[in-house]
Amino acid sequence: MDRAGTAGRVLGHPHVRVEGRAKVTGAAVYASDHRDGPVAHAALVTSTIACGRVTGFDRRAAEAVPGLLAILTHRDCAGAIAPVRHLMAGGFVNSAHRPLASDRVTYAGQIVALVVARTPEAAARAAALLGVGYEAEPAAGSFDDPGAEAVRLADLKPGHADIAKGDPEAAWAAAAARVEARYETPIQHHNPIELFTTRCAWDGDRLTVHEPTRYVGAVRHGLAAQLGLDPDRIRVVSGLLGGHFGSKFALSQHTALIALAARRLGCPVSLVPTRRQGFTIANYRPESRHDIRLAADRDGRFTALVHEAAVITSRFDPFAMEGADVTASLYACPALRTQERAVRVDRNTPGPMRAPPEVPYLFALESAVDEMAWHLGLDPIELRRRNDTATDPVSGRPFSTRPLMACFAAGAQAFGWEHRLPGAGAMRDGPWRVGLGCAASVRPVKIAAAMMRIRLSPDGAAEVATAHHEIGNGITTLLAMGLADRLGVPVERVSVRLGDTALPPAGISGGSSTTTSLMNALALGCDQLRGQLSRALTAPGRPFAGCEPDSLRLVGGRLLAPDGRALRCPEAVGLLDPAGIETLAEFVPAGSKPDALDSLRAGHIGLTLGGDHLAWAFGAQFAEVRIHAETGEIHVPRLTGAFAAGRVLNPLTAKSQLTGGMIWGLGSALLEETVLDGAAYRNPDLAEYLVPSAADIGAVEALLVPDPDAHVNALGVKGLGELGIIGVNAAIANAVFHATGRRIRRLPIRIEDLL
Ligand code: MOS
Repeated sequence: MDRAGTAGRVLGHPHVRVEGRAKVTGAAVYASDHRDGPVAHAALVTSTIACGRVTGFDRRAAEAVPGLLAILTHRDCAGAIAPVRHLMAGGFVNSAHRPLASDRVTYAGQIVALVVARTPEAAARAAALLGVGYEAEPAAGSFDDPGAEAVRLADLKPGHADIAKGDPEAAWAAAAARVEARYETPIQHHNPIELFTTRCAWDGDRLTVHEPTRYVGAVRHGLAAQLGLDPDRIRVVSGLLGGHFGSKFALSQHTALIALAARRLGCPVSLVPTRRQGFTIANYRPESRHDIRLAADRDGRFTALVHEAAVITSRFDPFAMEGADVTASLYACPALRTQERAVRVDRNTPGPMRAPPEVPYLFALESAVDEMAWHLGLDPIELRRRNDTATDPVSGRPFSTRPLMACFAAGAQAFGWEHRLPGAGAMRDGPWRVGLGCAASVRPVKIAAAMMRIRLSPDGAAEVATAHHEIGNGITTLLAMGLADRLGVPVERVSVRLGDTALPPAGISGGSSTTTSLMNALALGCDQLRGQLSRALTAPGRPFAGCEPDSLRLVGGRLLAPDGRALRCPEAVGLLDPAGIETLAEFVPAGSKPDALDSLRAGHIGLTLGGDHLAWAFGAQFAEVRIHAETGEIHVPRLTGAFAAGRVLNPLTAKSQLTGGMIWGLGSALLEETVLDGAAYRNPDLAEYLVPSAADIGAVEALLVPDPDAHVNALGVKGLGELGIIGVNAAIANAVFHATGRRIRRLPIRIEDLL
């Protein structure tokens, strides 16, 4: 689509992904596709016990494999990798576990050896033939196992505070209606198509890493600290990610091993771990438990909420996602208490999976709210309306906007909520019990400092460059659209360079903050270009002579003076410098720490929640379920979501993100679960770890609800990458109750729950 001449009218209109064609035709290049020069191939050997020590290796059969180059174990690598802290604790790694540092085994599936060979097949063969002796000790797999150790989140994470407001116990005792229940969510694993690959190559003492990551800065600075190198000697390139679902967010534990192997062998080494290994060398969404007590008066106004939550974590990392801050602030309520714990077990460290806290925590709260509606005989949307609030019940701060009930109204209308017959089991279609359910989706808006270089040539070509990443969210397209919109160049003439530490430094692409942060940075950069042009072109003899530089505005791709004189941006650039002009934008959002830019350069995570208001994105999820009265088979023929996430810059990619999230939510409600066998994962592949297939997915509709927000940031953008998945699980569970009268409080909901 040629959008030349549509300056000022590009953002806010649908535009296909600029890299979409390459992706769907197979031309797109992913990290493990890089094939420059000879390369050796690595394979991992992972532990079959969860706890204990490695007693020895039998290398004979492995060493007989033709093409074998090296076998590395803790006997070769102890001390080679320096310890580095977790990204969330001021460091760079997604797990502080150091593979091959000693003979200790701290979880099942831990790396115990690295094999390198001339071909991937030889490496895999030798890895399979390497004999490993173990001495096993008892291991704790989950909450109730002996040895599982509960710690208060406040003790694990400095800065975490449980919430206490009013007197929930007194309100509970005096309440007209009470819901008290435990809700549970399962382990879920990210299963991207591009696996957790890496490729390391040395050129003298310079290291280049090709790895799909959404934080090249953390990989660079983490490797520098692990290997004792100057960060300037490390270049990290992360092109298209091939999926992440919340993984690939920091330095992985295997990258330094591959770098070491490449240095020892004197040639580049590539690792494509197996999908099964991805379950234990990367992270996962941990199982969680939520004990909720919700009290209301006769009119359904909440009088007390107590949310006690527990999530699993590893023995050695401080990773645990807080979520009760969101559940406590969602509805008006005078008495609140939250308590969050992490339970340490002998497993690998969990990590963020999209909408890390909201998906499990809101399953609990939004199920409890539905239970309360049934208890009171109220429509669940009406109950939410009675507890809507314009201010945060915890801090008293105003929400920047609060379109939650607008989302419910828009969603209810599109979904046909008025056709819902009240009464559990009231709707039936032949052998199918029909149920309709809804739930809220909310997520705090995050934003971060960002840097980018913008260049504009007189011929209308433009370039935007930042180390930030295309994680599948469509940011490449948005950046091109943004420059087209502001500078009046065609989208097709904008070259977008991303995912490379050689470019201006970037933070993590996460927390749904990328669009918000980068588009504000882009706006700043364009304003700097305007400033450069204005200062030069208001000089005597220049086209805007006599004007104050600051009076010139950038409108529709033209520099415009108050007296009506105007000049297209590329022409203006031509008058200034035929080689083109460039600027480096350094965007620091309100609410950032003073050292935000230094922190960005140093690879430290720097997401902030912004200024004086509580800024959230909102949504309302609606689900229709059909459950076979005899077989218990569950179908979800329809999902409708209505979302308000500030200004939407590309409705096409926004809707596709939201729709994808909703489908994932369906999987979260009915299919996805990693099953434990002791402390090991029993179903670590896509044959047995179920995700929705086309046959599971019915009509899915994502609506965009207008949400003009003057407070959240200059552009009014909120980010919506994770909003679509949130609340779908509760909407489906609530629909299941409507269909059957069965309240399922543990996900995923299975046929056997409904027989
Ligand atoms: Mo998201 S998994 O908080 O980037």
